[in-house]
Parts: sequence; structure tokens; C-alpha cells
Amino acid sequence: MPALKPLKKAVLPVAGLGTRFLPATKAMAKEMLPVVDRPLIQYAIDEARAAGIEQFCLITGRGKTMLVEHFDVAYELERTLQERGKTAELAQLRAEAMPPGALVTVRQQVPMGLGHAIWCARHFIGDDPFAILLPDDLMQCEVSCTAQLAAAYRETGGNVVAIEEVPRERVNRYGVLDVLEDKGKLVSVKGLVEKPAIDQAPSNLTIIGRYVLMPEVLGHLARMERGAGGEVQLTDAMAKLIGSQPFHGLRYEGRRFDCGDKAGWLEAQIAFALARPDMADAVRGFLRNYL
Ligand code: G1P
Repeated sequence: MPALKPLKKAVLPVAGLGTRFLPATKAMAKEMLPVVDRPLIQYAIDEARAAGIEQFCLITGRGKTMLVEHFDVAYELERTLQERGKTAELAQLRAEAMPPGALVTVRQQVPMGLGHAIWCARHFIGDDPFAILLPDDLMQCEVSCTAQLAAAYRETGGNVVAIEEVPRERVNRYGVLDVLEDKGKLVSVKGLVEKPAIDQAPSNLTIIGRYVLMPEVLGHLARMERGAGGEVQLTDAMAKLIGSQPFHGLRYEGRRFDCGDKAGWLEAQIAFALARPDMADAVRGFLRNYL
């Protein structure tokens, strides 16, 4: 096998309106919704950085400039923290700062679907392998989920998507695998279907919002063929890679919270707070009052 190109780039689609969180998301990007004290977008960037990703592209839309502000150096804030002797807070801001030039944005001008959003990043992606992280899917993993995908990519080459099993009645919400061979942790794939009808789904193994893809997917996206929901679907373009490139699903280790959904977001608050030594006791204490 020829030497694999290292995985250094990530694309994060953040153009969605977040209508399920209105009115909270009327003037605020849904990716800025916090879980405990970090916004969703920050978790996704942290996860990618933990996988060795060095270049980030946010696919934004109108009303999303706050996301760019969030990753800028907040000069006035840093000076105020310094003057007030808040050294721990200042050290944290600086340690997490985005290196100069590491983050770019591209606007998706019209909402034509996830596949179209990724295609908008084609000049950023160029000829390199790249990760995709959908920030609505918040991952709680000992080893960064994207790092698990990167490791699988180094093992198999080609495309790898994170997968999980869901109850049959929920397969119609996801991209679904048509399995060629189930090897346990890795599953090789002979087909992919976006949001199939429940009785037509080829399995209950579904794609979550974490991918490592080869740049050739862009050629398929460029055709702008419409799929489920009348949108340009990433899943359909990925399916066209099967046969010419390795394509695997990875049963990642960890948990996913669907923070595009109110109940999922609330559950994430509790799970992440309980995992925090400075909060676990307090949260456990008050939760008992509600059960
Ligand atoms: C998108 C993808 C779908 C995937 C899901 C994971 O769907 O199109 O294949 O399973 O993310 O969260 P969406 O949630 O945008 O409808």
C-alpha cells in the first residue's frame, strides 16, 4: 500500500438554523449552545485537535459570525482578566487559543443539504483526506472519536465513518450501512442509504456525525444530485466511492448525544456535569429531588 497522506484537515458544517431550539437560537448560533460551560462547537474543535487535526474549515451561513469571534483572540477580555488577577481563566483561554491561520470559514449561500455544504469546502480540502465533524453530535469518549477514526484510517486506508446500532424504528433518521462484512469493530460496506424507510433499511447500523473521507467524494458531490428530502446528500456521494476505495464503518468506543434535539442536549448536560469532579456531587445531590 502506498504511504497514506496524514489527516490534518477538518470540515465542520455549521450553517443550520437550529429551528428546534427557537427562540434560543433566534439571534445565536445553535453551535454556541453550551454543555456545562463550553459551546458545542468548542467540543468538536477540541475533539479534532486531539486527533492531530491542524486546519479547520467552518461552513457557515448568515448569522454565524459569533462562531468566528469565539475562536479569535479576545484581547480586551484577556487584559481585563490579567488586571483582575484571574490567572487560571487567562491561562485556559491562552492554552486553547486557535493558532494563527488555522481556522477558515466558507459560506454556504443556500441550504441545499449536507453534501452541498461539504462541497463548498472543496478548495480548502484540495487533494487531501479530511475529517468531518457535525457539532450537533456531541461525543463523550475516552479517546477522541475523531482520533479513533484517524487510527482506523491508518489501518485500513480509504474512507471510515463512525457508526452505532440504533433500534429499528429510528433508522429512518440516519445514513444506514449495507454491510459487506461485519468484523466487529470494523464493518466493510457494500452500500449506504440516507434515511431509508424503516422496512427497507439494509441494517440498523447508522452513521453518526463523524467521518474521515477521501477527496474523491468531491467529484461525486459536484454533480449536485438530489436525494432524500430533495437535498444533496453526503451519504449518496460517499456510496459512489464504494468499490473504488476502501470504505468502512467503525464501531467507536464512547457515547453520542444528539444535541440537535432538546432531550439529547439536556441529557448531555447531565452526563458531562456528572463527569466533572467540580460538579458531580452537586448535580447528583439535586437530581435525587426530581426522581
Ligand atoms: C446527517 C447525515 C446522516 C447521519 C446524521 C448523523 O443527517 O445526513 O447520514 O446519519 O447526520 O447525525 P441529519 O442529522 O443532518 O439529518
